[in-house]
Amino acid sequence: MSPFRITRTLPEDATEAALRADVLHGLTATPKTLPPKWFYDARGSELFEQITGLPEYYPTRAEREILIDRAGDIAAAAGARTLVELGSGSSEKTRHLLDALTGLRVYLPVDVSESALVRAGQALAAERPGLRVHALIADFTRELELPETPGPRLVAFLGGTIGNLLPAERAAFLGAVRAMLAPGDALLLGTDLVKDERVLVRAYDDAAGVTAAFDKNVLAVVNRELGADFDPAAFDHVALWNADDEWIEMRLRSRVAQTVKVPALDLAVDFAAGEELRTEVSAKFRKEGVSAELAAAGLELTRWWTDAAGRFALSLSTVR
Ligand code: SAH
Ligand code: AVI
Repeated sequence: MSPFRITRTLPEDATEAALRADVLHGLTATPKTLPPKWFYDARGSELFEQITGLPEYYPTRAEREILIDRAGDIAAAAGARTLVELGSGSSEKTRHLLDALTGLRVYLPVDVSESALVRAGQALAAERPGLRVHALIADFTRELELPETPGPRLVAFLGGTIGNLLPAERAAFLGAVRAMLAPGDALLLGTDLVKDERVLVRAYDDAAGVTAAFDKNVLAVVNRELGADFDPAAFDHVALWNADDEWIEMRLRSRVAQTVKVPALDLAVDFAAGEELRTEVSAKFRKEGVSAELAAAGLELTRWWTDAAGRFALSLSTVR
């Protein structure tokens, strides 16, 4: 068994302050929004894991296919001694990378979900003697200060989670990633690709209703953390394709006119019947767009792999 450490980069009251600020800003804005990072308490992380196994939700299977086929190429190109993984979740697909990176000494999973980090980190440390696993509870859009570890570094951002950031957030995020990389380091980025609208909408509105439960989980988080009285049954899950922005939007549509109280913010929020709260965007990409966004951050796309059906891409980029 190798050592497992878990570190919180910000105190818990800072996380609560961030939630309060996001809820106050998002629920008083027009249209109403909430940032998707608040989905991922223990229940939200568990629901996301269920989503990854749904017949309609192809991204996880497509990305796993690429990793199985290309982990050797990625390892040869990166030669990493430290693997940093942002938004690591269950770290399930990462196992293919860990197997291929033969010189790896340190694995640094970074996530806002403590439950996901503990479960994945403890299992990996127990299975892989010789690998130091140091998990960081952190918001990758805010703090990206990492402990000193041996280079070269490979930073992995899998799952298409970059698509959950808005374009300006993506630019800031990629700039911060660029600042973490030294010459010889690399970024491995997973991006879901633009495809048939029906396939996309089904992936975000599954027949079993797991994505609907995941979407509504953000209301349970706000209820628990801020004492709000959202009734999840009074909202419908909506998934739609925004063709102009080339992203899926998840929304919660109020079934009735209602007022929701958020005591911790001394706030009462009116919803008209049919009014929608946007809870997530999930952008879908094209190769040119990915390459241009990386270049704007000072990164050069050097490799591009897709699954056989062309649904999802993994790219490798280095400092320009
Ligand atoms: N990489 C995994 C999990 C993807 S789900 C996969 O490909 O299956 C998205 C993950 O990112 C979740 O574990 C969630 O907790 C985490 N996450 C979302 N927003 C985050 C943020 N701002 N900072 C850190 N982690 C975040
Ligand atoms: C984590 N992220 C890439 C998922 C996605 O597909 O945008 C989150 C998700 N939302 C609904 N289903 C899955």
